[in-house]
Amino acid sequence: MANNKKTKSSSKTNKNDASAKSNTNKTNLEKTNTSIKKPTVKLAISKYLQSRNNKIFIANWKMNKKFEDIKSFAFAFNHLLHKDKVIKKSNFLIGVAPTSLGLLPCAGMLKNNVVTVAQNISPEKNGAFTGQLSYDQIHEYNINYALVGHSEVRNYLNVTDKIINDTVKVLIQNNMRPVLCIGDTKEQYDEKKSEKTIALQLMNDLKGISESQIKNVIIAYEPVWAIGSTVASDEWIKNMTKFIRDTLKDMYDEKTAKEIHILYGGSVKVENSPSILSIKGIDGVLIGGASLDHQSFYEIICSCPEYKDIQKIILTKNGQKPLPKNNS
Ligand code: PGA
Repeated sequence: MANNKKTKSSSKTNKNDASAKSNTNKTNLEKTNTSIKKPTVKLAISKYLQSRNNKIFIANWKMNKKFEDIKSFAFAFNHLLHKDKVIKKSNFLIGVAPTSLGLLPCAGMLKNNVVTVAQNISPEKNGAFTGQLSYDQIHEYNINYALVGHSEVRNYLNVTDKIINDTVKVLIQNNMRPVLCIGDTKEQYDEKKSEKTIALQLMNDLKGISESQIKNVIIAYEPVWAIGSTVASDEWIKNMTKFIRDTLKDMYDEKTAKEIHILYGGSVKVENSPSILSIKGIDGVLIGGASLDHQSFYEIICSCPEYKDIQKIILTKNGQKPLPKNNS
């Protein structure tokens, strides 16, 4: 009886052992599969991303949002990015430019590698400059990006090309990244002086910036006539981007010009971002009004072709069917 019991229990034990073993094998197999799968997906994505400039998305909040608004934006936006596997695997640079007062709340609350960007800073380190914010002060809080020469700053605060140039220089020298905004006014556009204006701005604002330094400058082409009104046509954006890159090629060299990030800004919205972000030579967007809402900013990011391509790589490698092309 006792023996029987023993035999029974030992056969049970054997069975259990066998099933445990097969489970272990299964787990090992699963492990092997995932460990094979993971680097393959990672490798495929990194190979894909290596062949292009990384995409950049910057929200320019201008003089909007109080503390509670920033808090609710950060909470919702963090959540959206946190659960997005595609963005996690991408090399997108996502930034938010709040008012000066919003810099620290943003830097503290925005997660998932979202960078905080200053809207306007002084090239002076400190001193008698009432009403200004210095590059050194934001740097102290690890805020390393700043818009420089936005048309509203050029217009309302009388910031000249010389100050813009000094600011670009000082940021670069301190391992920070300027987002240099350039753009033609409605008048210049009507008089067909857009290219001349842009060439002059590039030459003046980048004076003394070397080949190795220019790679850290992000250029945002924002036609003043398109800001907060009607987006420029894809054709216009394409031609102006090409003109900017050709000018940079003359100022530096072809390889350097190719690597410089050029963004478009001016009435970018969820409706027009898929086509803007598909324009050859466009490396991202600077968004005003449409970035105030976390969902619309997020959808603009998801509308770039790279997002769809990475999503396809992940799904294909995991044996799932990729979504149809027009499905976001
Ligand atoms: P907008 O602003 O998207 O509201 O036109 C863009 C900007 O000024 O940077």
